[in-house]
Amino acid sequence: MKRRVAILISGRGSNMAALIEAAKAADFPAEIAVVVSNRSDAGGLAIASQSGVPTAIVESRPFGKDRAAFEAALQALLDQHKVELICLAGFMRLFTAEFVQHWYGRMLNIHPSLLPAFPGLEPQAQALRAGVKISGATVHFVIPQTDAGPIVMQGAVAVQDDDTPETLAARILTVEHRIYPDALRLLAGGQIRLDGDICKTIGSAGSGDALISPAVN
Ligand code: GRF
Repeated sequence: MKRRVAILISGRGSNMAALIEAAKAADFPAEIAVVVSNRSDAGGLAIASQSGVPTAIVESRPFGKDRAAFEAALQALLDQHKVELICLAGFMRLFTAEFVQHWYGRMLNIHPSLLPAFPGLEPQAQALRAGVKISGATVHFVIPQTDAGPIVMQGAVAVQDDDTPETLAARILTVEHRIYPDALRLLAGGQIRLDGDICKTIGSAGSGDALISPAVN
């Protein structure tokens, strides 16, 4: 049985689209049961509809600071769709510790840096300011602390001297679109084991490739 997944978005939904595409494969262990946006103007909603995936809007704005009330509405929707796993994909709303605890081990997020480096806003600009030569993207389990939690998968890219936050973000985004579906495949396929705060993968190892940056000619 495929695991039933909800993707939560607030914006353009390119990671959502990558997850929907991957889930079309017959052997993918998860199906996208619903895409939920907390904003009615999220561009990703139209992409999901075009792909034939059910969509729903739970506007967070009317709830103001009452996060628990928003989450009660969201949880009701997730229950209605019999959701077992959640993928946050550019979802710009913080959860209460209670909601996160309820979904612990079953809710993933993706962040465009090699966590624990550069959590929070504008991680690509943070990476450029720090002068790192390699950055990337991280899929992790969600915990109450923002952009932290057991790391499921990471992908790296070289940072170029002439990168802007936009060019670096675009390079990282292509990696995001590869690792998010792969990480969901591992989770939904039961290939992930949590050892305390450390996530371990059953039957899989690193690719063995070294990424060295800058390259010396
Ligand atoms: C991605 O960079 C993701 O890592 C971050 O928010 C962005 C969402 O982009 N959490 P998209 O909506 O998936 O295109």
